[in-house]
Amino acid sequence: MKGEILKLLKETDGYISGQELCERFGVSRTAVWKVINQLKEDGYEIEAVRNRGYTLKSVSDVLSREEILSSISTKWAGRHVEYLDKTDSTNIQARKLAESGAPHGTLVVADRQEGGKGRRGRNWVSPPGVGIWMSLLLRPQINSISASMLTLIMAMAVERGIRETTGLECMIKWPNDVVLNQKKVCGILTEMSTELMEIQYVIIGPGINVGQEAFTEEIRATATSLYLESGVKFRRSDIIAATMKAFETYYEKFAETEDMSGLMEEYNSRLVNRDREVCILSPSGEFRGVAEGINKTGGLEVRLPDGSRTEVISGEVSVRGVYGYV
Ligand code: BTN
Repeated sequence: MKGEILKLLKETDGYISGQELCERFGVSRTAVWKVINQLKEDGYEIEAVRNRGYTLKSVSDVLSREEILSSISTKWAGRHVEYLDKTDSTNIQARKLAESGAPHGTLVVADRQEGGKGRRGRNWVSPPGVGIWMSLLLRPQINSISASMLTLIMAMAVERGIRETTGLECMIKWPNDVVLNQKKVCGILTEMSTELMEIQYVIIGPGINVGQEAFTEEIRATATSLYLESGVKFRRSDIIAATMKAFETYYEKFAETEDMSGLMEEYNSRLVNRDREVCILSPSGEFRGVAEGINKTGGLEVRLPDGSRTEVISGEVSVRGVYGYV
């Protein structure tokens, strides 16, 4: 009921009477009053006016299951939410839920991760109150080779989610970093479980730096947050909701063809390395070329110095600008 009352308060312009809430939920005035008090304790500023009812004045950056559910307006992406104040890694928790049968579209969100995982075995620093640490569980009926494209789709969704809620224009660094003013604002870790080439489930975990005021010496040169780039503290649940909405739209487009043909133009328009010289670091060596954009299978097309073209496939490959991170 708490989530539903919150949703109603968010959707109502003006006041909603206590009587109406009682009738809608079939509960007493005292029960409604208790929920309103709980919401106030969570950080919502709710005004109660005699003979008019309740109105939501302002909402601070509250993160909770109710807050996320009352913000999300999708058909399936993020309709089942598991929220944790603290966890090891949302990817680990999503995997556990997947193993116990959680449905396609389940979203795990944590305020803080104590064992946040990055790509290539690195750790991902995930302090409380400032980031979006989340993992989306998918059960796609696609070939396992197509799964890497889901990461590209999440990068597009994060970029759009940020743009639509904050107005900030990010770019994508192939395959899965979202950058703002040439610095990384989001990284994505995708993990999957397969059986005989068939996907059991995929977990896509973006980590978005929202409110950090500083980074450690080690990553300061390449990492940033939405706050550091804009001076504004954004509400994480708004960004989560917009990202889920965008992900659902992009995923459904992807599912029509099971490739990036309907999305590559948009992806490439946001590609930070497009038409720039990049350095490709792969386990078999290092080479340079000009990044031309992704193809329909999500590979990066690179023009080599001799004019020939090669396709770089994501995996253990890292793409850098020739002068630094981008
Ligand atoms: C990278 O190295 O760029 C990927 C970082 C991914 C971090 C996110 S935070 C939410 C999810 N849970 C994790 O443990 N990792 C991902």
